[in-house]
Amino acid sequence: MIRLFVNVDHVATVREARKTIEPSPLKAALLAEKSGAQGITIHLREDRRHIQDNDVKIIQKAIITKLNLEMAPTQEMVNLAIDIRPFQVSLVPEKRQEITTEGGLDVCSLEKELSLIREKIQAKGILFSLFIDPELAQVDASQRIGADSVEINTGKYTELETPEEISIELERIKFSAKRAAERGLKVFAGHGLNYENVKPIAAIPEIEELNIGHFIVGQAIYVGMENAVREMIHSIKIGRGQNI
Ligand code: PXP
Repeated sequence: MIRLFVNVDHVATVREARKTIEPSPLKAALLAEKSGAQGITIHLREDRRHIQDNDVKIIQKAIITKLNLEMAPTQEMVNLAIDIRPFQVSLVPEKRQEITTEGGLDVCSLEKELSLIREKIQAKGILFSLFIDPELAQVDASQRIGADSVEINTGKYTELETPEEISIELERIKFSAKRAAERGLKVFAGHGLNYENVKPIAAIPEIEELNIGHFIVGQAIYVGMENAVREMIHSIKIGRGQNI
């Protein structure tokens, strides 16, 4: 079974629209766990547009599953992660003006810097993951710097329209997943996934973990967090060819 980590950033987005205390990303995280999620993902952005420092602390303390902290490769964030000690840190590139993470990290051109961060994070017993585009060169660079895992960016795959384009991008994801597993990396994926487009991704045997946020939080408005998470797990199982 693939592990589902539910990203609750956008519960905080709604809260921050009014700078108040509801809705609570912690409550959403606890409901996601109750509904079968194996972990919770949050992205503490440098501009603190949704998740706040205190959210990271209280979610880390209260959840009974695992916390995956997404963050930019900066000194401030490394210090914070070392202080909070999540189960896993996932490094993502960050641009202030972007609406969401726009692409994977260019590990190839940042090998030295990322290697130093990797040492500090792993020294504290925290797993170290890199969000990368589905490119073999990025997979190989991730292995060279000693990452535990890579999260393959499915963003482009989820945005393409024609079946031909989608199938080419899916092949790139499959090749990258295979290469990463051959290199001894654990393979995760995420970005832009919904009940339908998750199925071919869940069918890729090397993929062990999915990070899904925006769609689940959006569905939760209609059907509640618990149903949205359960429905996503159902789709993942169908994609994986598991008995329902
Ligand atoms: N993985 C990474 C690295 C991300 O930055 C995000 C978005 O925060 C996700 C997964 C989840 O993407 P989505 O919210 O589109 O499901």
